[in-house]
Amino acid sequence: MYQPREHFQSGHRFGIEFGGAVLSFERVADVLRRQWPIIAACAGASLALVLVYLITAQPMYTANARIMMDTRQAQVLDKDSNTSSALIDTGYVDSQVEIINSDDLILSVVRRLKLTEDPEFNGSNPGLLSLIIGKVSSLFGSGEPASQERIEHAVVEQVQKNLRTERVLTTYVLSLNYRARTPDKAAKIANAIANAYLVGALEAKYQSTKRATEWLQQRSLELSEQASASDRAVQTFKAEHNIVGTSRGLMSEQQLSDLNTQLVQARAATAEAKARLDRIEAISDQDLAQPTVTDALNNSVITRLRAQYLDLQAQYADWSRRYGKTHLAAVNLANKMDELRKNIADELHRIGDAYRSDYEIAKSREASLEKNVKELVAQAGHTGQAEVKLRDLESAADTYRNLYNNFLEKLQSATQNQSFPLSEARLISTATNPDRKSSPRTVLALVGGLVGGLCLGFGVAFARELLSDVLRTPGEVEDELGVKCLGVLPDIRPSTKTGPSDLSRYVVDHPFSRFAETLRNIKVSIDVARLNREIKVIGIVSSLPKEGKTTVAANFAQLIALTGHRTVLIDGDLHTRSLTRELAPNAKSGLVEALNDPASLGYHVQRSKETGLDFLPSVVASRMVNSADVIGSKAMAELLKVLREHYEYIVIDLAPVMPVADSKAVSLLIDAMVYVIEWGQTTRSALQESVSGSEVLQKKLLGAVLNRANPKMLKRIEAYKGKHHNSYYVEHA
Ligand SMILES: Nc1ncnc2c1ncn2[C@@H]1O[C@H](COP(=O)(O)OP(=O)(O)OP(=O)(O)O)[C@@H](O)[C@H]1O
Ligand SMILES: [Mg+2]
Repeated sequence: MYQPREHFQSGHRFGIEFGGAVLSFERVADVLRRQWPIIAACAGASLALVLVYLITAQPMYTANARIMMDTRQAQVLDKDSNTSSALIDTGYVDSQVEIINSDDLILSVVRRLKLTEDPEFNGSNPGLLSLIIGKVSSLFGSGEPASQERIEHAVVEQVQKNLRTERVLTTYVLSLNYRARTPDKAAKIANAIANAYLVGALEAKYQSTKRATEWLQQRSLELSEQASASDRAVQTFKAEHNIVGTSRGLMSEQQLSDLNTQLVQARAATAEAKARLDRIEAISDQDLAQPTVTDALNNSVITRLRAQYLDLQAQYADWSRRYGKTHLAAVNLANKMDELRKNIADELHRIGDAYRSDYEIAKSREASLEKNVKELVAQAGHTGQAEVKLRDLESAADTYRNLYNNFLEKLQSATQNQSFPLSEARLISTATNPDRKSSPRTVLALVGGLVGGLCLGFGVAFARELLSDVLRTPGEVEDELGVKCLGVLPDIRPSTKTGPSDLSRYVVDHPFSRFAETLRNIKVSIDVARLNREIKVIGIVSSLPKEGKTTVAANFAQLIALTGHRTVLIDGDLHTRSLTRELAPNAKSGLVEALNDPASLGYHVQRSKETGLDFLPSVVASRMVNSADVIGSKAMAELLKVLREHYEYIVIDLAPVMPVADSKAVSLLIDAMVYVIEWGQTTRSALQESVSGSEVLQKKLLGAVLNRANPKMLKRIEAYKGKHHNSYYVEHA
């Protein structure tokens, strides 16, 4: 019947597996049902704490001032700025936040408002917490009175703690929140900080322009010196290197080109003179009669002489043909011709001389020009190098001059800025007295306290559930043992309302109670099981003492007897014999005697008139060492055999499994075991250990019953059964 825990299937439940434990919604709901008082207590405690805090906490008020970073004003004077440079970057705005929070700025406010004399800051009126902190920290301090500087520093720190400056989203607006104990102080300090920042910004701007102006002045002075020095250098250099500028460039360059032109001309002249001379020389060797002579010589004298000569020649030829060559006239003519020829030669000679001298002159002119050009070229080489240097000097001079002009312009605008410093920030909203306290925030604190308390409660509840190893629901029992849970028996201890009652006969007094009904349920389960096999001997057993075996056994047996079945109840717990003490305190003999002599059984059994239940008590003079042997003996088997013949139900109250061996010893002789588990007390580990210790017991295990369940808790656990679930029970007779 008993199945080891691993074989038990609980798969139909939906949930999350947690280290072996299934966290299902049902389970969470179960936990909440069981543990809600803890959760409620946690929430209540937390709310109470919050309330105490709300009542005792000093109310604080927060005033808000807003400052806008404005760049457009500054642009009026800044000619260089264009639209892109007018945008302030995030870093700039963030650093303004830091400036507002800076020690120096806050210190100026502290001094101006004389905050060191304010009781809120100088500690003459401290809160409870700061009083404690102050006392504790004074234990570690040197004990000397603090210096003015330290006091101021402490106040600055406190103001910084109360001040919250932040950029409003991505705008250029800075929001300044100041927290103080009174509304007007909050507003006063917030405004003072904002003003200190604005003044500081102006001052900083003035200082920076002033510094810039000074620097510019000094720099422009230097620059002007540098510019004039470089100008001077250019002039000196020119003078040293003989460089004179003309409209067409430098002097030597122009000379050179002029000379070159002249040289070309001179060369042409020389060549022409030479050519003429050559021709004259060539002609003088020729016959004058040749026509080429005059053609070549474009000379009027010679042309005329030659014409005369040619006339004479023609006449001479005529005359010598007519009169013969020896004729006087012919001879005269010939003489004349000779003379003419001589004249021409003379003339040619004279022209030749003139040409030669022409040629000589041209040659010497050319030579002199060439010499000049050479000199000039040599000189130009020098000048070229000097010129490179000169360009350098000139450009340097230019640069300095431009820089100087630039600086002058800047200096001008800087001087203007200095005389009218313009702030880039302005106050767009002055802090006013806040009309509501900003802290403590009642609703928020209450909601937070409630939520926190609930969370804590849930945590504690689940921790308790997880840590607790006890069983409280039939489901847990079935999970653990793998057998059916036959029912949950409530705690039947008499309440003040009902007055005292005997627990061992509770079913007799309260036949319609839940307790009785649950036991009836167990009987039904046994009867159903009886359809398959014979179940007559029923052992009531538990892991540990005091779980309620005796109470359950007595009531169960009485219940069956009351229904008219022949029933015998045996006190099988030879150690405590509590059943005997309850039902037959005066008994002189019982089970042990019956075992020794089965025939005498009838003498030992006592019948209850009221219920018709037969009871076989146990009477022993002193505690037995061999009780397990006795109860598991053959004689016991014989006795049970006899009893089986007489009775329909034989209920045996047994000893607990863990401390003594009796139950294990007798389990072979018993048909079915009902396991009593004390609700919320018996641990799983104890249960596991005791059940797994005996295989026979496991086999005989018919079911388990949870005993002594707290009725209130039971109601919560069984809330899912509906509110009418208990309406059939009559708890009070
Ligand atoms: N359902 C119950 N409601 C209230 N009290 C109970 C219940 N069951 C048992 N008790 C009480 O618990 C105590 C121990 O019960 P009981 O003697 O039946 O346990 P036991 O398991 O037989 O103990 P032992 O191992 O000593 O024999 C008794 O005082 C009894 O009155
Ligand atoms: Mg007992």
